[in-house]
Amino acid sequence: MSGTDGDSNRAPVCLPSFRSDLRRMFRSALERLSADGVVSIKPEELAGLAAEVRKTADAKFGDYSATMAMALAKRAGLQPRAVAMEIIARIESVPGFLERFEKPNEPVGPGFINICVRDDALACAIVAAVHDPRVGVVPVERPETIVIDYSSPNVAKPMHVGHIRSTVIGDSLAKILRFRGHNTITDNHLGDWGTQFGMIVWGWKHLRQEDHFTADPTAELSRLYRLVRKLIDAKPEEMACDAEVAALVAHHPDVGRAVLAETLKLHEGDAENLALWEQFMPVCRAEIDRIYSRLGVAFDHTLGESFYQPFLAGVVAELLAQGLAQESRGATAVFLDGYETPLLIRKADGAFLYATTDLAAIKWRVEHWHPARILYVVDHRQGQHFSQLFATAKLWGLGGVELVHVAFGTVLGEDGKPFKTRAGDTVGLESLLDEGVMRARQILGNSDEGRGGTGMGDDDRRHIAETVGIGAIKYADLAQNRTTDSVFSFDKMLQLTGNTAAYMQYAVARVEGIFAKAGIDRQQLRTATQAVRLADRRERTLALELLRFGEVLEDVEADYRPNLLTAWLYDLAGFYSTFYDALPVLKAAGDDRNNRLMLCDLTGRILRKGLELLGIGTVEKM
Ligand code: ARG
Repeated sequence: MSGTDGDSNRAPVCLPSFRSDLRRMFRSALERLSADGVVSIKPEELAGLAAEVRKTADAKFGDYSATMAMALAKRAGLQPRAVAMEIIARIESVPGFLERFEKPNEPVGPGFINICVRDDALACAIVAAVHDPRVGVVPVERPETIVIDYSSPNVAKPMHVGHIRSTVIGDSLAKILRFRGHNTITDNHLGDWGTQFGMIVWGWKHLRQEDHFTADPTAELSRLYRLVRKLIDAKPEEMACDAEVAALVAHHPDVGRAVLAETLKLHEGDAENLALWEQFMPVCRAEIDRIYSRLGVAFDHTLGESFYQPFLAGVVAELLAQGLAQESRGATAVFLDGYETPLLIRKADGAFLYATTDLAAIKWRVEHWHPARILYVVDHRQGQHFSQLFATAKLWGLGGVELVHVAFGTVLGEDGKPFKTRAGDTVGLESLLDEGVMRARQILGNSDEGRGGTGMGDDDRRHIAETVGIGAIKYADLAQNRTTDSVFSFDKMLQLTGNTAAYMQYAVARVEGIFAKAGIDRQQLRTATQAVRLADRRERTLALELLRFGEVLEDVEADYRPNLLTAWLYDLAGFYSTFYDALPVLKAAGDDRNNRLMLCDLTGRILRKGLELLGIGTVEKM
């Protein structure tokens, strides 16, 4: 059997990877089917067909269901049921199948093959998962190097609500891929070289308050950023209400152009602007790092746009030399089939662009890290940029790496419009986190009184409020299908029931509370060699679900969707409740008690691990 990844002292028969084992077995059965001349199947089709083994929609039909007979029958002009029977005849004789699964019954409906896991195989797999520090998740057979480019804010301006999705989704994907066994490299592609620096450089030169900068550099830089933004965007009718802005605009009539000139000077290596950039960068970094530390997010690398500046002229020269780029009205661009506009890599004034930096970054990453994949967790509005970027990279000879735009939708307010403050500004990320924590504190305070007080100290409360408040914001984002726009609602995300962080955090505390309450040594439970018997159907359902953790993580990877994990964890908490409400655990006798405690232990660990992979903190008590 495969998939043990070198861990040779674990008995392979008890591997808790039912779906992947089934898929592998179906693959051999289909190979035989084709070799026997029943339906012809090309080798490259096998994986796709075998992937048609999934969890059954309705447990009354069994545990897993295989649906490939329908498509195969159609192409061969045969009866689907007949093809299903042929597959069943072959699956039974795949080595190892009957040790793990019941002999399949006749196909159901138009040709569904339903499979049940053998009870003894399930019980033995549960013991293996309980013993396993990886809680039964088998690492991928072929680990890949995967670069994840995420968060990547433009610094020197305050981080806002739009940055949360990339940061939170990217971080969770990185954790999941790493846990699956891939070599993941996280890289924060900071926008640290753009016009926003021209803005603060210009602001610094004309409007700075030096004593403010000394006292609080971050605040002064964001004041300058906001002020310059206002001057650039000022409309005559608004100036009537804002005398300060009106006076400044009168004094500096063409700020927009002046800012571009400062940006260009920086890019051309002007000593004064470069020195200012070097002075400002640590301030900007400290600002975003504070937010990252509250979010519990860290990166392996932070190679911002500035890092690639030395390579940009070379990128343009190479693309021109290879005939991939053309000069067009003074600018340089890559014309791609199927796009109305070309990909611009150098402007007529000589400035390089976002795409030029991205091309340099792909080449650099490929040369230094040799990744099989690079994922870009970026707003869906950059879709065209990435598809042109990827097409260009391929033409340029970088086709060996798989480039994926993991796109996500916009954060909307409860009114369905892009989330803004009442004054119409984008919502700053920091104030958002503060509000989440403040509200969590209120809610927890209330429910604490309701339960007659749990005797928590102030530090406990503060820590719990931070974990619950920030967890709520992150979880709400992760629980959305990433490609749809997500509605930001504090009321919904902080609910104590439903698929929320608070509910899940509470579920973990509740499951694990059992052990503390009864003074049970969980470590001992995990080394016990006793066999498990899953007599009750609620035990069996919970057990089978627990062993699907690895399948869910595989599905998350296949489509880069952490929401599959949130949904599954929520369902798992439900199966646990059904089990726990129906069956005594601490009061059960003998083996039943031990079996059930093992299920509780594994549930607690998997819920905790799942939340950890989502980047959601947990607490001992709530
Ligand atoms: N800094 C960009 C922005 O804020 C996002 C960068 C995404 N990553 C990339 N390699 N282009 O829009």
